[in-house]
Amino acid sequence: MTRLSGRKALITGAASGIGRETARRFAAEGATLALLDRDAAALKVIADETGASVMVCDLTDVGAIAPAVDRAAEALGGLDALINAAGILVRQPFETIDAALWQRLFEVNLRGLALVCQAALPALRAATSASIVNIASLSALKPSPGTSAYAATKAGVLMLSKCLAEELAPIRVNAICPGIIDTAMTAGFMNDPGTRDKIVAANALHAIGQPTDIAAACVYLTSSEACFVTGTQLVVDGGRSFS
Ligand code: NAI
Repeated sequence: MTRLSGRKALITGAASGIGRETARRFAAEGATLALLDRDAAALKVIADETGASVMVCDLTDVGAIAPAVDRAAEALGGLDALINAAGILVRQPFETIDAALWQRLFEVNLRGLALVCQAALPALRAATSASIVNIASLSALKPSPGTSAYAATKAGVLMLSKCLAEELAPIRVNAICPGIIDTAMTAGFMNDPGTRDKIVAANALHAIGQPTDIAAACVYLTSSEACFVTGTQLVVDGGRSFS
Protein backbone atom coordinates (compact mmCIF):
# COMPACT_ATOMS: atom_id res chain seq x y z
CA MET A 1 0.00 0.00 0.00
CA THR A 2 2.32 2.74 -1.21
CA ARG A 3 0.25 4.46 -3.87
CA LEU A 4 0.67 7.81 -2.09
CA SER A 5 4.17 7.30 -0.80
CA GLY A 6 5.91 10.63 -0.23
CA ARG A 7 2.73 12.66 -0.84
CA LYS A 8 1.89 15.57 1.46
CA ALA A 9 -1.85 15.94 1.83
CA LEU A 10 -4.26 18.31 3.52
CA ILE A 11 -7.72 16.85 4.20
CA THR A 12 -10.61 19.02 5.37
CA GLY A 13 -13.61 17.62 7.24
CA ALA A 14 -11.25 14.97 8.59
CA ALA A 15 -12.87 14.62 12.01
CA SER A 16 -15.74 12.48 10.72
CA GLY A 17 -17.13 10.29 7.97
CA ILE A 18 -15.61 10.53 4.50
CA GLY A 19 -12.77 12.90 5.48
CA ARG A 20 -11.77 10.69 8.43
CA GLU A 21 -11.76 7.50 6.36
CA THR A 22 -9.79 9.25 3.65
CA ALA A 23 -7.21 10.23 6.27
CA ARG A 24 -6.91 6.56 7.29
CA ARG A 25 -6.50 5.37 3.68
CA PHE A 26 -4.02 8.12 2.81
CA ALA A 27 -1.89 7.29 5.86
CA ALA A 28 -2.01 3.58 4.96
CA GLU A 29 -0.92 4.44 1.40
CA GLY A 30 2.15 6.29 2.66
CA ALA A 31 1.04 9.95 2.64
CA THR A 32 1.92 12.39 5.39
CA LEU A 33 -1.09 14.37 6.51
CA ALA A 34 -2.42 17.62 7.86
CA LEU A 35 -6.05 17.37 8.93
CA LEU A 36 -8.44 20.31 9.19
CA ASP A 37 -11.82 20.47 10.91
CA ARG A 38 -13.78 22.63 13.33
CA ASP A 39 -14.25 19.69 15.75
CA ALA A 40 -11.00 19.80 17.74
CA ALA A 41 -11.65 16.76 19.95
CA ALA A 42 -12.62 14.37 17.14
CA LEU A 43 -9.81 15.71 14.97
CA LYS A 44 -7.23 14.90 17.64
CA VAL A 45 -8.37 11.27 17.74
CA ILE A 46 -7.83 10.67 14.01
CA ALA A 47 -4.64 12.76 14.02
CA ASP A 48 -3.21 10.59 16.81
CA GLU A 49 -4.19 7.48 14.85
CA THR A 50 -2.56 8.64 11.60
CA GLY A 51 0.36 10.70 12.92
CA ALA A 52 -1.12 13.79 11.24
CA SER A 53 -0.72 17.47 12.06
CA VAL A 54 -3.89 19.14 13.34
CA MET A 55 -5.45 22.34 12.00
CA VAL A 56 -8.51 23.33 13.98
CA CYS A 57 -10.40 25.78 11.81
CA ASP A 58 -14.02 26.72 11.17
CA LEU A 59 -14.44 27.34 7.46
CA THR A 60 -17.03 30.03 8.11
CA ASP A 61 -14.23 32.07 9.71
CA VAL A 62 -12.79 33.58 6.52
CA GLY A 63 -9.74 35.10 8.22
CA ALA A 64 -8.71 31.78 9.77
CA ILE A 65 -8.54 29.74 6.57
CA ALA A 66 -5.30 30.96 4.95
CA PRO A 67 -3.30 30.82 8.22
CA ALA A 68 -4.51 27.25 8.83
CA VAL A 69 -3.58 26.14 5.30
CA ASP A 70 -0.19 27.88 5.61
CA ARG A 71 0.44 26.07 8.89
CA ALA A 72 -0.45 22.78 7.20
CA ALA A 73 2.04 23.37 4.37
CA GLU A 74 4.69 24.40 6.88
CA ALA A 75 4.12 21.33 9.04
CA LEU A 76 4.37 19.01 6.03
CA GLY A 77 7.24 20.86 4.34
CA GLY A 78 5.04 21.48 1.29
CA LEU A 79 1.72 20.32 -0.07
CA ASP A 80 0.89 18.28 -3.18
CA ALA A 81 -2.58 16.96 -2.40
CA LEU A 82 -5.74 18.58 -1.12
CA ILE A 83 -8.98 16.79 -0.32
CA ASN A 84 -11.93 19.04 0.46
CA ALA A 85 -14.45 16.93 2.39
CA ALA A 86 -15.80 19.41 4.97
CA GLY A 87 -19.47 20.08 4.40
CA ILE A 88 -22.92 20.32 5.96
CA LEU A 89 -26.27 18.97 4.83
CA VAL A 90 -29.60 20.61 5.62
CA ARG A 91 -32.75 19.04 4.17
CA GLN A 92 -35.91 21.08 4.29
CA PRO A 93 -38.56 22.35 1.89
CA PHE A 94 -37.48 25.21 -0.36
CA GLU A 95 -40.11 27.62 0.97
CA THR A 96 -38.75 27.30 4.54
CA ILE A 97 -35.11 27.99 3.71
CA ASP A 98 -34.34 31.45 5.04
CA ALA A 99 -31.46 33.77 4.19
CA ALA A 100 -29.39 32.66 7.17
CA LEU A 101 -29.57 29.03 6.08
CA TRP A 102 -28.65 29.86 2.48
CA GLN A 103 -25.68 31.76 3.86
CA ARG A 104 -24.52 28.93 6.17
CA LEU A 105 -24.65 26.33 3.42
CA PHE A 106 -22.87 28.63 0.98
CA GLU A 107 -20.19 29.61 3.49
CA VAL A 108 -19.21 26.06 4.43
CA ASN A 109 -19.86 24.01 1.29
CA LEU A 110 -18.74 26.43 -1.42
CA ARG A 111 -16.99 29.58 -0.21
CA GLY A 112 -14.99 27.74 2.46
CA LEU A 113 -13.89 25.09 -0.04
CA ALA A 114 -12.91 27.75 -2.60
CA LEU A 115 -10.87 29.69 -0.05
CA VAL A 116 -9.03 26.53 1.03
CA CYS A 117 -8.13 25.87 -2.64
CA GLN A 118 -6.97 29.45 -3.04
CA ALA A 119 -4.87 29.41 0.14
CA ALA A 120 -3.25 26.11 -0.89
CA LEU A 121 -2.26 27.37 -4.35
CA PRO A 122 1.27 28.66 -3.64
CA ALA A 123 2.26 25.34 -2.04
CA LEU A 124 0.51 23.26 -4.71
CA ARG A 125 2.17 25.24 -7.50
CA ALA A 126 5.57 24.64 -5.92
CA ALA A 127 5.04 20.86 -6.02
CA THR A 128 6.24 18.69 -8.91
CA SER A 129 2.75 17.33 -9.40
CA ALA A 130 -0.31 18.36 -7.43
CA SER A 131 -3.94 17.37 -7.15
CA ILE A 132 -7.14 18.69 -5.62
CA VAL A 133 -10.15 16.45 -4.99
CA ASN A 134 -13.40 18.16 -4.05
CA ILE A 135 -16.23 16.13 -2.52
CA ALA A 136 -19.37 17.35 -4.29
CA SER A 137 -22.47 15.12 -4.24
CA LEU A 138 -24.88 13.19 -6.41
CA SER A 139 -27.21 16.03 -5.36
CA ALA A 140 -25.26 18.23 -7.76
CA LEU A 141 -26.56 16.09 -10.63
CA LYS A 142 -29.89 14.64 -9.49
CA PRO A 143 -32.57 16.43 -7.47
CA SER A 144 -34.11 14.87 -4.37
CA PRO A 145 -36.73 16.32 -2.00
CA GLY A 146 -35.61 18.97 0.49
CA THR A 147 -32.11 19.39 -0.87
CA SER A 148 -32.44 22.49 -3.07
CA ALA A 149 -30.01 24.73 -1.17
CA TYR A 150 -27.52 21.93 -0.41
CA ALA A 151 -27.69 20.71 -4.01
CA ALA A 152 -27.11 24.22 -5.34
CA THR A 153 -23.92 24.55 -3.29
CA LYS A 154 -22.76 21.13 -4.50
CA ALA A 155 -23.48 22.00 -8.14
CA GLY A 156 -21.30 25.04 -7.46
CA VAL A 157 -18.52 22.78 -6.17
CA LEU A 158 -18.75 20.71 -9.33
CA MET A 159 -18.46 23.64 -11.70
CA LEU A 160 -15.80 25.32 -9.55
CA SER A 161 -13.76 22.11 -9.83
CA LYS A 162 -14.01 22.13 -13.64
CA CYS A 163 -13.10 25.82 -13.82
CA LEU A 164 -10.09 25.25 -11.59
CA ALA A 165 -9.01 22.22 -13.65
CA GLU A 166 -8.88 24.54 -16.64
CA GLU A 167 -7.37 27.55 -14.89
CA LEU A 168 -4.86 25.91 -12.56
CA ALA A 169 -3.40 23.18 -14.81
CA PRO A 170 -1.03 21.37 -14.43
CA ILE A 171 -2.56 21.07 -10.96
CA ARG A 172 -5.22 18.38 -11.45
CA VAL A 173 -8.64 19.20 -10.02
CA ASN A 174 -11.39 16.58 -9.83
CA ALA A 175 -14.71 16.16 -8.05
CA ILE A 176 -16.37 13.11 -6.56
CA CYS A 177 -20.15 12.80 -6.47
CA PRO A 178 -21.03 10.33 -3.72
CA GLY A 179 -24.49 8.84 -3.46
CA ILE A 180 -25.85 8.28 0.04
CA ILE A 181 -23.01 7.23 2.33
CA ASP A 182 -23.26 5.85 5.87
CA THR A 183 -21.87 8.71 7.99
CA ALA A 184 -22.95 11.04 10.79
CA MET A 185 -24.36 13.34 8.11
CA THR A 186 -26.96 10.80 7.00
CA ALA A 187 -27.50 8.97 10.30
CA GLY A 188 -30.64 10.99 11.04
CA PHE A 189 -32.62 9.41 8.21
CA MET A 190 -30.59 6.22 7.65
CA ASN A 191 -31.35 4.97 11.15
CA ASP A 192 -35.01 4.74 10.19
CA PRO A 193 -35.32 1.15 8.85
CA GLY A 194 -38.04 2.06 6.32
CA THR A 195 -35.97 4.88 4.84
CA ARG A 196 -32.85 2.74 4.79
CA ASP A 197 -34.66 -0.01 2.89
CA LYS A 198 -35.90 2.51 0.31
CA ILE A 199 -32.38 3.88 -0.15
CA VAL A 200 -30.98 0.37 -0.63
CA ALA A 201 -33.70 -0.42 -3.17
CA ALA A 202 -33.01 2.80 -5.10
CA ASN A 203 -29.58 1.86 -6.39
CA ALA A 204 -28.56 -0.86 -8.82
CA LEU A 205 -26.21 -2.60 -6.38
CA HIS A 206 -28.83 -2.58 -3.57
CA ALA A 207 -26.22 -1.45 -1.06
CA ILE A 208 -25.41 1.51 1.17
CA GLY A 209 -22.21 3.36 0.33
CA GLN A 210 -19.47 3.39 2.95
CA PRO A 211 -16.85 6.08 3.63
CA THR A 212 -14.23 3.57 2.45
CA ASP A 213 -15.82 3.67 -1.03
CA ILE A 214 -15.20 7.42 -1.29
CA ALA A 215 -11.76 7.21 0.35
CA ALA A 216 -10.74 4.69 -2.35
CA ALA A 217 -11.86 7.13 -5.06
CA CYS A 218 -9.83 9.90 -3.39
CA VAL A 219 -6.74 7.67 -3.37
CA TYR A 220 -7.15 6.93 -7.08
CA LEU A 221 -7.69 10.55 -8.13
CA THR A 222 -4.75 11.75 -6.02
CA SER A 223 -2.36 9.00 -7.14
CA SER A 224 -0.18 9.04 -10.24
CA GLU A 225 -2.55 6.43 -11.73
CA ALA A 226 -4.86 9.38 -12.44
CA CYS A 227 -2.11 11.56 -13.97
CA PHE A 228 -4.22 12.15 -17.14
CA VAL A 229 -7.48 12.75 -15.25
CA THR A 230 -8.57 16.30 -14.52
CA GLY A 231 -11.84 18.22 -14.53
CA THR A 232 -13.85 15.04 -14.15
CA GLN A 233 -16.75 14.11 -11.89
CA LEU A 234 -16.46 10.60 -10.50
CA VAL A 235 -19.89 9.36 -9.47
CA VAL A 236 -19.69 6.78 -6.66
CA ASP A 237 -23.31 5.90 -5.96
CA GLY A 238 -23.93 2.19 -6.46
CA GLY A 239 -25.80 3.03 -9.63
CA ARG A 240 -28.42 5.32 -8.06
CA SER A 241 -28.12 7.95 -10.77
CA PHE A 242 -29.16 5.59 -13.56
CA SER A 243 -31.45 3.19 -11.68
P1 NAI B 1 -19.77 14.23 8.29
O1 NAI B 1 -20.80 15.09 8.93
O2 NAI B 1 -19.53 12.87 8.82
O3 NAI B 1 -18.37 15.00 8.22
C1 NAI B 1 -18.29 16.34 7.82
C2 NAI B 1 -17.11 16.98 8.53
O4 NAI B 1 -17.04 18.36 8.11
C3 NAI B 1 -17.26 16.98 10.06
O5 NAI B 1 -16.07 16.50 10.67
C4 NAI B 1 -17.50 18.44 10.39
O6 NAI B 1 -17.01 18.84 11.67
C5 NAI B 1 -16.77 19.15 9.25
N1 NAI B 1 -17.28 20.51 9.09
C6 NAI B 1 -18.57 20.89 8.92
N2 NAI B 1 -18.66 22.22 8.91
C7 NAI B 1 -17.40 22.71 9.04
C8 NAI B 1 -16.84 23.99 9.12
N3 NAI B 1 -17.62 25.11 9.10
N4 NAI B 1 -15.51 24.12 9.25
C9 NAI B 1 -14.72 23.03 9.33
N5 NAI B 1 -15.19 21.76 9.29
C10 NAI B 1 -16.52 21.62 9.15
O7 NAI B 1 -20.21 14.16 6.76
P2 NAI B 1 -19.70 13.23 5.57
O8 NAI B 1 -20.82 12.38 5.18
O9 NAI B 1 -18.39 12.65 5.87
O10 NAI B 1 -19.54 14.33 4.43
C11 NAI B 1 -18.28 14.68 3.86
C12 NAI B 1 -18.54 15.41 2.55
O11 NAI B 1 -19.21 14.53 1.65
C13 NAI B 1 -19.45 16.63 2.69
O12 NAI B 1 -18.99 17.66 1.86
C14 NAI B 1 -20.79 16.11 2.20
O13 NAI B 1 -21.60 17.14 1.70
C15 NAI B 1 -20.36 15.15 1.13
N6 NAI B 1 -21.33 14.13 0.79
C16 NAI B 1 -21.78 13.25 1.74
C17 NAI B 1 -22.72 12.30 1.41
C18 NAI B 1 -23.27 11.33 2.39
O14 NAI B 1 -24.26 10.63 2.06
N7 NAI B 1 -22.72 11.20 3.58
C19 NAI B 1 -23.26 12.20 0.02
C20 NAI B 1 -22.70 13.16 -0.88
C21 NAI B 1 -21.78 14.08 -0.50
